[in-house]
Amino acid sequence: MDYLEQLQKRYSVKKFDGEKKVQQEILERIMEAGKLSASSLGLQPYEIIVVASDEMREKLIPAFYNPSQITTCSHLMVITAKNGIGDEYINNYFSHISDTRQIPLDNLELFRKSIDSHMNRLSPESLMSWAEKQGYIVLGNLMFAAALENVDTCPMEGFRQEVIDEILNLDPKKEKTCVTLALGYRSAEDHFQNLKKVRKPNDKLFKFM
Ligand SMILES: Cc1cc2nc3c(=O)[nH]c(=O)nc-3n(C[C@H](O)[C@H](O)[C@H](O)COP(=O)(O)O)c2cc1C
Repeated sequence: MDYLEQLQKRYSVKKFDGEKKVQQEILERIMEAGKLSASSLGLQPYEIIVVASDEMREKLIPAFYNPSQITTCSHLMVITAKNGIGDEYINNYFSHISDTRQIPLDNLELFRKSIDSHMNRLSPESLMSWAEKQGYIVLGNLMFAAALENVDTCPMEGFRQEVIDEILNLDPKKEKTCVTLALGYRSAEDHFQNLKKVRKPNDKLFKFM
């Protein structure tokens, strides 16, 4: 499979074919690509809510400024960013490393100290911005994996975050919606699929040094 060809073929879908659903096993492979994303310090300061039920998807429609993708997509992923990574979260992370790699917690002390000092240096606003950046890495990987699976997507920021958070029952002290990704299969009526890609030429995008 030529991944560049797949990336050429992908585009941000405006209207999906409402009759076509992404099969569970394909969805799970795309989810796995999201899970395998790299994150700063490995802390994965996000969650991915997979909206699979039509009922929940329909509830979310009013939260989007232009909801044509939400009314027609097969699944909607909502990537949430964590609002503060406290001691408990970091403790759990270290127990997880220790269990997974069979390393005593004491041997991880130096890493723990470096994480604590990094976290303590960030204001709550910078922490949230840091968490959101990690969420966007997940978004990129999900989109790439979907393209390789011939699943169409549209990344979406055009929503009222507080409205989504309320519908999904997110605790504002702990997390907020960062970005969303609609998945499905393009509608034959979506003329955006015929448009040429608009990208900066290489000399404006890349600099060799
Ligand atoms: C983070 C992000 C948010 C976006 N939000 C929206 C959106 O809310 N609605 C929409 O129709 N497209 C949205 N897009 C799609 C972009 O407009 C699109 O990626 C860009 O124009 C390039 O076109 P292409 O993805 O079709 O190649 C978003 C893209 C990104 C990466």
